[in-house]
Amino acid sequence: MRQRLLGCTGLAVSAVALGAGHVGAPDQAEADVERLVHRALDLGVNLLDTARSYGASEERLGRALAGRRDAVVISTKVGYGVPGHADWTGPAVTLGVEDALRRLRTDRLDVVHLHSCPLETLRRGEVVAALEATVRAGKARVAAYSGEGDALEWAVRSGAFGSVQLSVNVCDQRALEGPVREARLRGLGVLAKRPLANAPWRFRERPTGHYAEVYWDRLRALRLDPRGLPLPELFARFAAHAPGVASILLGTASPAHLEEAVRAVEAGPLPPELTAALRDAFLRAGEGWIGQV
Ligand SMILES: NC(=O)c1ccc[n+]([C@@H]2O[C@H](COP(=O)([O-])OP(=O)(O)OC[C@H]3O[C@@H](n4cnc5c(N)ncnc54)[C@H](OP(=O)(O)O)[C@@H]3O)[C@@H](O)[C@H]2O)c1
Repeated sequence: MRQRLLGCTGLAVSAVALGAGHVGAPDQAEADVERLVHRALDLGVNLLDTARSYGASEERLGRALAGRRDAVVISTKVGYGVPGHADWTGPAVTLGVEDALRRLRTDRLDVVHLHSCPLETLRRGEVVAALEATVRAGKARVAAYSGEGDALEWAVRSGAFGSVQLSVNVCDQRALEGPVREARLRGLGVLAKRPLANAPWRFRERPTGHYAEVYWDRLRALRLDPRGLPLPELFARFAAHAPGVASILLGTASPAHLEEAVRAVEAGPLPPELTAALRDAFLRAGEGWIGQV
């Protein structure tokens, strides 16, 4: 699988990463997670994205990576969920990194995001300074930000982060001309979350209350003509080859779906006229559509 530089971080990441949100769910069997992780590595997927809030994801990745730690780039997210400490404080970040190291069974994390940290908190400086200190201490290689909107824009311009994570998909293109372009100019890495827009085509009826609900509405409004391409392929190629995007974080618990995405992205960018039609569809239908956290 082709690798790209993650901005100026010095890290090289596969164009498709394993978004390890689903693997943390209680209904996932540990043996299946291990099989998925090994299949990912064998496919050349070298970036794994997890977070404190993804259930047992960090622990399971830590166990699955025994003996293969050096083959992967580990991305995680902190800022909350440390017993005895308020969320979005310096200690929540410092100890959050220590906890993640322990759960992931490693002595260093590669990319550590402040996970949807609000703008006022970023501006206050305490959590940013705590994250920078973990980098200086060699516990994290790259300080990163994950989120949308004003906070994302601030993060890109702040000079404090080497990489950002945000939603990029056919139904969520607003950031491409803003933060993604700016990040690229400034040498920041860009990781695209929710690249399939949560596969809204899976739902015949509006999935009220589901994470995919907003994207289901948008997909209908876009009235796409996929020109014969399967939607998973269309979405994966669009996001992975959007200028500035280093890697798409494909959220899956299925080796077959991961494999499908790798194959799709390896086929290269969509034909230029199809990419242009998808961009036009968004500009036409997407007034007021903001990046989805
Ligand atoms: N930083 C943040 O706040 C944040 C927020 C959201 C996501 N993320 C990151 O981005 C990753 C991906 O996000 P996401 O999972 O929300 O969205 P996504 O990748 O757009 O969609 C994932 C969904 O699509 C399904 N899927 C995958 N391939 C498919 C295929 N070929 N056909 C049909 N369905 C398919 C998956 O189910 P199967 O398991 O059946 O494949 C899963 O339910 C997360 O794991 C996480 O790493 C970060």
